[in-house]
Amino acid sequence: MRGLLVAFEGVDGCGKSTQARRVALARGAHFTFEPGDSPLGAELRRWLLDASTPMSPVTEALLMLADRSHHVRSVVEPALARGANVVTDRFAPSSLAYQGYGRGVDLEDLRAATDLAIGTCVADLTILLDLAPEVANARRAPDARDRFESADAGFFDRVRQGYLEMAAADPAHWCVVDGAREIDDVSAAIDARLDQLTWA
Ligand code: TYD
Repeated sequence: MRGLLVAFEGVDGCGKSTQARRVALARGAHFTFEPGDSPLGAELRRWLLDASTPMSPVTEALLMLADRSHHVRSVVEPALARGANVVTDRFAPSSLAYQGYGRGVDLEDLRAATDLAIGTCVADLTILLDLAPEVANARRAPDARDRFESADAGFFDRVRQGYLEMAAADPAHWCVVDGAREIDDVSAAIDARLDQLTWA
C-alpha cells in the first residue's frame, strides 16, 4: 500500500515545524522538509536563504522548484512507494504563497512549473497553521533574519491571504487550524483531522 503524504504550511513562525515533527513521530511517518532535505537541497537552501545574494522572484521560484523536484524524486516518492507515510514541512503551496502571492510571480506560470516539478506527487492533505504575521513575527528570534524573514509585513499578509485562498478553493484537501491557540489545542485539532485519513 502506498503511503500518505501530509504537508504542513503557514507563514514563518506559525509553529508548523513543531507540529509536523510531532505528527511524524506519533504516527511513525517519515519527516522531511523544504527547502533543503537532501545534499543538493542543502546547497540550494543555503543560496535561497542568504539575504546577501540578490535574486529575482522568478529565479527564487525556480530554485525552490528545483529543490522540490529533486526532493520529490529522491526522498518523497521512494518513501511513499515503499509504503511509508510522509510528513513534509512545506510543499508546493509554499511556492504559490511566497513566490506567487508574496513576490508577484504569475500564478498560472507557477502552477505549470510546479506540475513539472512534482509530476503526480500531490499531498493527500495539507494542514495550514493560520496565524497573523504580527503574531508570528513576535515569536521569531530578532537576530535571525534570512531572505524571507527580512521581508516587509505586507509580504507576509499577502502570503497568508494566498494560503487562505488556496485552502478555501479545495477544502477536501486542506485543513485550516488557528495557529494562535495553545499548542496542545492546535495539536488536538490537527489530530482530529488526521484521524479521518487511512494511514498506511
Ligand atoms: P522553512 O525552513 O520552513 O522556514 P520556517 O521554519 O522559518 O518557516 O522555510 C524557509 C523559508 O523558505 C521560509 O521563509 C519560506 C520560504 N519558502 C518559499 O519562499 N518558497 C517555497 O517554495 C518554500 C518551500 C519555502
